[in-house]
Amino acid sequence: MSFYRGILLTSLLVPSALAGSYSLSQSNVGSEFLSNFQWENITDPTNGRVEYVTQSTALAENLTYTSSDTFIMRADYTTTLDASGPGRKSNRIKSNTKYNTHVAVFDIRHMPQGCGTWPALWEADDTVGTSAGEVDILEGVNDVSPDSVTLHTNGTCTMPSNRTMLGTALSNDCSSSASVENGNNGCPVNAPYTSSYGTVFNTYGGGWYAVERTSEYIRVWFWSRNGTTTPSEVSSGASNINTDSWGTPIAYFPDTNCNLKDLFGNHNIIIDLTFCGSWAGEAFGPAGCPGNCTDYVNSNPSAFENAYWEFAAARVYLPSSSASNSSNATSTSNFSAASPSSTSSGSYVTQALSVPVLLSMLIGAVYIMN
Ligand SMILES: *[C@@H]1O[C@H](CO)[C@@H](O)[C@H](O)[C@H]1NC(C)=O
Ligand SMILES: *[C@@H]1O[C@H](CO)[C@@H](O)[C@H](O)[C@H]1NC(C)=O
Ligand SMILES: *[C@@H]1O[C@H](CO)[C@@H](O)[C@H](O)[C@H]1NC(C)=O
Ligand SMILES: *[C@@H]1O[C@H](CO)[C@@H](O)[C@H](O)[C@H]1NC(C)=O
Ligand SMILES: *[C@@H]1O[C@H](CO)[C@@H](O)[C@H](O)[C@H]1NC(C)=O
Ligand SMILES: *[C@@H]1O[C@H](CO)[C@@H](O)[C@H](O)[C@H]1NC(C)=O
Ligand SMILES: *[C@@H]1O[C@H](CO)[C@@H](O)[C@H](O)[C@H]1NC(C)=O
Ligand SMILES: *[C@@H]1O[C@H](CO)[C@@H](O)[C@H](O)[C@H]1NC(C)=O
Ligand SMILES: *[C@@H]1O[C@H](CO)[C@@H](O)[C@H](O)[C@H]1NC(C)=O
Repeated sequence: MSFYRGILLTSLLVPSALAGSYSLSQSNVGSEFLSNFQWENITDPTNGRVEYVTQSTALAENLTYTSSDTFIMRADYTTTLDASGPGRKSNRIKSNTKYNTHVAVFDIRHMPQGCGTWPALWEADDTVGTSAGEVDILEGVNDVSPDSVTLHTNGTCTMPSNRTMLGTALSNDCSSSASVENGNNGCPVNAPYTSSYGTVFNTYGGGWYAVERTSEYIRVWFWSRNGTTTPSEVSSGASNINTDSWGTPIAYFPDTNCNLKDLFGNHNIIIDLTFCGSWAGEAFGPAGCPGNCTDYVNSNPSAFENAYWEFAAARVYLPSSSASNSSNATSTSNFSAASPSSTSSGSYVTQALSVPVLLSMLIGAVYIMN
């Protein structure tokens, strides 16, 4: 009987021990962002008062800046705009690599703040709307804290009302019948800390956001820079991590009533800063911002001096157990051959669990049961 129970527990224990283990696949620090991301100089799909610039324009006008340990991207904060001309210059960047099951850790020193701003850090395939799902990790408007972590799906997806997470669900219906800009709010979870967003986030020196996506759940964590509970493997940028040791996430989206496997496809990491548009524009007055959002953005360049992202690092991890499963990271045609993240090389793989380790886990499980 105890042997049977031991086996039973082990079969639960081994996959979960493997499930939280990931190895570093791509580390972005300083100028590595320039080769591992593309600058999307597209028309803003959310109709913002923005002009997304190319990487060369961004570098030439110092709207993108890197040093050995810093990556900054900011909006123009010196130009008064002609109301009939293009919007405020800003950056929208997208990872060259797409990810499925993965963990991404963002070490952020500063995020855009101020009336009219709508910064976002998310994962999606932005060439297909929400057809491949969308995970909004850090997003908000007009400097209103806290952060909202939100899923959007094209298809039925609901969340259980009782979830093990620190944040507060505003809706449990994640489905968006059309695109996000069409008034679809998804299933936001508000972070429990004012330090998770905007000016307050910046006052404390920013912090770390992390997302874990598997076919069974999506989890997002946040630790403020001056908090005391940040896992050391997160703050140090460790090569090997185990999310099961990170504590309760701020947001948890299980697959209980949501087919994550089918509703979510391969995603790029996308980071932008837009102004006004469909969300920040409508929420401008209610946030206590003065007058008309578009007019404000046009005529108050100096209000955007602190409208910048500053990253210490962005690191992506793939499952340690997927030694020969490299399909979880795929490249677009803009993938840089010099990048170290090529999955075909298998270089992200460290070690699979050895037979002695598995045996000791089995023995340990039998001991626990007895
Ligand atoms: C993107 O940049 C190219 C090259 O500078 C330019 O021709 C094009 O108009 C830009 N597209 C948008 C939407 O700004
Ligand atoms: C470019 O931006 C960086 C970061 O904001 C700043 O430190 C630097 O002085 C700027 N360079 C110029 C030439 O303005
Ligand atoms: C959502 O899915 C439906 C049916 O599969 C499709 O017709 C529609 O274009 C999709 N919408 C978006 C925004 O992807
Ligand atoms: C929520 O789940 C927890 C843990 O499973 C349980 O203790 C609690 O009673 C549940 N609360 C409600 C309102 O269902
Ligand atoms: C974080 O910084 C703020 C502002 O300086 C301070 O009030 C707070 O006590 C700090 N928290 C910790 C855990 O150090
Ligand atoms: C703000 O002004 C712009 C033109 O400058 C106008 O198109 C827009 O409708 C105005 N928004 C509101 C909320 O009044
Ligand atoms: C790779 O993934 C597939 C599908 O998830 C699975 O069936 C297969 O066992 C995996 N292979 C390895 C070596 O993990
Ligand atoms: C890799 O991605 C596929 C979907 O493309 C998924 O079915 C599979 O479970 C993933 N494998 C691992 C090991 O994460
Ligand atoms: C590659 O980048 C260029 C400009 O940098 C862009 O026009 C093109 O759409 C990108 N290709 C893909 C597949 O994303």
